[in-house]
Amino acid sequence: MDALKLPQAPWDGDGALDAANHELEQMTTGEVMQWALETFAPHITLASSFGAEDMVLLDMWAQSNSTPIDVFCLDTGLLFSQTYALIAQAETMYHITVQRIRPRISIVQQANEFGPSLWSHNPDQCCQIRKVDPLASHLTRYQAWVTGIRRDQNANRRTAPLLGWDPKHGLLKINPLAKWSYDDVFRYLKTRNVPYNPMHDVGYPSIGCEPCTLPVTGGQDPRAGRWQGKEKTECGLHL
Ligand code: ADX
Ligand code: SF4
Repeated sequence: MDALKLPQAPWDGDGALDAANHELEQMTTGEVMQWALETFAPHITLASSFGAEDMVLLDMWAQSNSTPIDVFCLDTGLLFSQTYALIAQAETMYHITVQRIRPRISIVQQANEFGPSLWSHNPDQCCQIRKVDPLASHLTRYQAWVTGIRRDQNANRRTAPLLGWDPKHGLLKINPLAKWSYDDVFRYLKTRNVPYNPMHDVGYPSIGCEPCTLPVTGGQDPRAGRWQGKEKTECGLHL
């Protein structure tokens, strides 16, 4: 693959990223992934909640054969049992070890410090402790991270680039599926026979922690089941 000119650090200014994005936009998603791995490995990692999008990316990485898969999951301790089962299944299938990134305090310690069920009365603080802080310290080890963000997921993501500078964490952020629809994701999973969380088939298009994820009904926004009844729409990983 032709070398793509990368902007120089700090990668937060002007047209250099735009030019790289212009080239990436002409590539297939597999080529974007391949380019990312060739350019950044071993300093690149895949952020996976083991949702449908993340399974596509994991499968693409596995196919690239170019470098060992470095994948992490922010394990809040509150994921669905189906998610934990899928992590184990993926580890066996792809011969990988998923890094489980855990918060500094257990759920019991959190209850002792902040009261029971922090997610019900202060979900922002709960996400900060269980997801946002662990992500920030984990990403200090890398030059680039890959996420399953898609532009049509919500208003915040509508302008997500394929390659962007993540100023909060100080590294590049690659969103290979930015242009994909939910249907594209499932077409890929079914065609390639990639395992996915069975909850997606019973009303859960978007799956996070168990206390904050409900099923949605037809016609509802696919993310409507996340933090239902609260103003919150993002856990803070991508803000
Ligand atoms: S969230 O901010 O609302 O939770 P969402 O569930 O849409 O995010 O996932 C978007 C992307 O963020 C995923 O494709 C994945 O790359 C990353 N991500 C979300 N949750 C986690 C997690 N628990 N561990 C690792 N990465 C995650
Ligand atoms: Fe806590 Fe809910 Fe955020 Fe999970 S999604 S970390 S349970 S507030």
